[in-house]
Amino acid sequence: MPITTCIFDAYGTLFDVAAAARQAAAEPGRVAFAKVWQKLATDWRLKQLQYTWLRAVADAHTDFWTVTQDGLDWALEANNLTDPDLRTRLLALYWELSAYPEVPAMLGALKKAGLNTAILSNGSPEMLGGAVKSARLTELLDDVLSVQSVGVFKPHHSVYDLVNKRFSCTSDQVLFVSSNGWDAACATGYGFQTVWVNRAGEPMDRLPWIPAHTLPDLTTIPTLAAAL
Ligand code: LAC
Repeated sequence: MPITTCIFDAYGTLFDVAAAARQAAAEPGRVAFAKVWQKLATDWRLKQLQYTWLRAVADAHTDFWTVTQDGLDWALEANNLTDPDLRTRLLALYWELSAYPEVPAMLGALKKAGLNTAILSNGSPEMLGGAVKSARLTELLDDVLSVQSVGVFKPHHSVYDLVNKRFSCTSDQVLFVSSNGWDAACATGYGFQTVWVNRAGEPMDRLPWIPAHTLPDLTTIPTLAAAL
């Protein structure tokens, strides 16, 4: 079935989640942090995601901003970083993460080809609104869909249901793009055509499904979408 709708995960896929820690580490007076920022960024991301899965399984949903702060607090403690100003700065930077450099041209090409484009993310509408605005992507996206309206995090099927409801399409008309291997794999299980953007060359997640396509970045998404 030809693709009519391209759906993107937000954090790590369109927006560089390591950018907050990288930027803070480059600021004056952060000598100790500059030595561990990469580990902090990895720990933060992993804990943030673990808390989404744990809360989904435990039926204890909260907003993504809460798990983002909880993940950061765990990561700061694990790395012996106690400066409260650093915490405040990292959280502020999370609202204005930079997009990967190829994102505007890639979304522009999809729009030019007449495809629907949207984000489908765990992020709260407020967080996503901040990131989209700061990366100047507003005009390139038809919508920003948040899990907040269904009250459970990815990869629950009710999150993926949001796409078909919003765009009145069938699952096989959707190309779902995520840098999270588990998200792309579970979206394959749901019935979407899928791309895993594997920038870091990570191994495939061991799940019952696998992403249909794997790419090193987002540059060739318009070509792939046209070919399917
Ligand atoms: C998101 C996370 C999973 O944007 O990256 O939904």
